[in-house]
Amino acid sequence: MPAFSAYAPGKIILFGEHAVVYGQPAVAAPVSQVKARAVVNANLRGLPGSVRIQAPDVGEDAELASLPANHPIGLAVRSVLALLKIQSPPACTLKVTSTIPIAAGLGSGAAVSVAVLRAFSAYLGRPLKDEQVSELAFEVEKVHHGTPSGIDNTVITYGKPVYFIKGKPIEMLKVPVPFTIVIGNTGIASPTAAAVGEVRQAWKAKKALYESYFESAGSLAASARQMIEHGIVETLGPLMTANHGILRKMGVSSPELDELVAAATKAGALGAKLSGGGQGGNMIALVAASRAERVAQALQRAGAVSTIITVVGKPE
Ligand code: MEV
Repeated sequence: MPAFSAYAPGKIILFGEHAVVYGQPAVAAPVSQVKARAVVNANLRGLPGSVRIQAPDVGEDAELASLPANHPIGLAVRSVLALLKIQSPPACTLKVTSTIPIAAGLGSGAAVSVAVLRAFSAYLGRPLKDEQVSELAFEVEKVHHGTPSGIDNTVITYGKPVYFIKGKPIEMLKVPVPFTIVIGNTGIASPTAAAVGEVRQAWKAKKALYESYFESAGSLAASARQMIEHGIVETLGPLMTANHGILRKMGVSSPELDELVAAATKAGALGAKLSGGGQGGNMIALVAASRAERVAQALQRAGAVSTIITVVGKPE
């Protein structure tokens, strides 16, 4: 029997993280240089209903039945079985691997869910539609992130740049002029749930102030969308840097992120900001394609543990 496999990319938030949780627009893009992969192989000698889950990157090797209800991979598998009303799947082994750094703002959790949902439903002979994949991945995100906006599962499922407003129909972004982004990893693990939780506490304590931050970030995202769709990409740089300033005020930057943002700017980036939950994880810098290598090297000298050069809007 053939193996059933699926990949899902990482993601960056170009504009509007955190504010998007409060209903403001945000802009995100997939990052295909890093990926989660799920492979399902039939286990011909296994008992019906047995699903063995292996995730060597995180030291997991267990039967589905022994996993707690909130285990993210277990939850994704169980949600496929529930949706397809299958009680006892033919025995199989599901192996999950990923090159997306964990707790780094690049969407590793959502990408694992999307890859698992696709590979497992294909194994069962009933591949899910994109809307179903995104919806179920969102349910898994909720268990782990508390109050996710849904942007990660959306951009990762569709694999295209998106303009996203929580609860609204998805809008794919037109990108007539592709642009280059350098991603720098501080190497500091920072779970999104923690940063989102802290922003929520701060918002509860100072509602008017935080809502003004969210609105400013939302208008930057709306302006950025216009510029991207009109192909005026150089002017996105200052908008990114302004978004970083707002995120700092929200309390989700860190000295390491600020240092990488400064190093990118000094090396000639057009603008830079943290990306994702913040307080660690990754930052992004908009660069002219010819400067990408130089900015990546400057980021490494300033302490980035890894860098990725990606092009937003590049035809696949
Ligand atoms: C995470 O990629 C982006 C946040 O805004 C959280 C969310 O939207 O769910 C920090």
